[in-house]
Amino acid sequence: MASEHKRAAGERALDYVKDGMVLGLGTGSTVYYTLQKLGRLVQEGLKIQGIPTSKATEEMARELNIPLTDFVRHPVLDLTIDGADAVTPKLELIKGGGGALLREKLVASASKRMIVIIDESKQVDSFDNLEIPVEVIPFAVETTVERIRALGGTPVLRERGQSLFVTDNGHYIVDVKFPSVTDVSNLHDTLKRLTGVVETGLFPDLASHVIVGTEQGVRELGR
Ligand code: A5P
Repeated sequence: MASEHKRAAGERALDYVKDGMVLGLGTGSTVYYTLQKLGRLVQEGLKIQGIPTSKATEEMARELNIPLTDFVRHPVLDLTIDGADAVTPKLELIKGGGGALLREKLVASASKRMIVIIDESKQVDSFDNLEIPVEVIPFAVETTVERIRALGGTPVLRERGQSLFVTDNGHYIVDVKFPSVTDVSNLHDTLKRLTGVVETGLFPDLASHVIVGTEQGVRELGR
């Protein structure tokens, strides 16, 4: 079952957590299991501090009494643990299915190491025709969407219920598919150069380690 695989991967990541570490706390249904176990370990005496990647994770961490810190006190983090929507064999990631990609990238890029936790359904050969979330400024969003379309993508503004989805940062998300993604870094750079784009959910080189929960147990892939 996917949720058991997520739990196995999410809990295994804690093997890499040591006393005194400052952790980036990811977002999503796989990190949920990491946070639950981390809360128990903290209760048993583990000394860590975390920086959350979303309001949802911040709320959960507070409920679990996981100590939080910030970038003023800790500009460099030891380790970020986060999920992903898709992972290639080169450990390139798509993130942002839950809309938290901007803070996730800020936290991961300030970390010495990023461990990604997934179930095996997230392993892909390429990002061809997969939804890539792009965080955009609401002002003139129609123009930004057309700029993305002009690159050959099929962009869709993300909705939640009857309204547009709004990120923790007050922005919108455009989910865009490209028929062929041959160079992930290049696509990220091209999208990021468009006026109106804040950040992309492409993480070409941030993951140092991926933990995959599978039917046969947990598999680890490293750089
Ligand atoms: C949040 O915006 C995302 O980047 C998540 O980290 C990603 O979607 C993985 O989430 P799940 O673990 O829920 O699949």
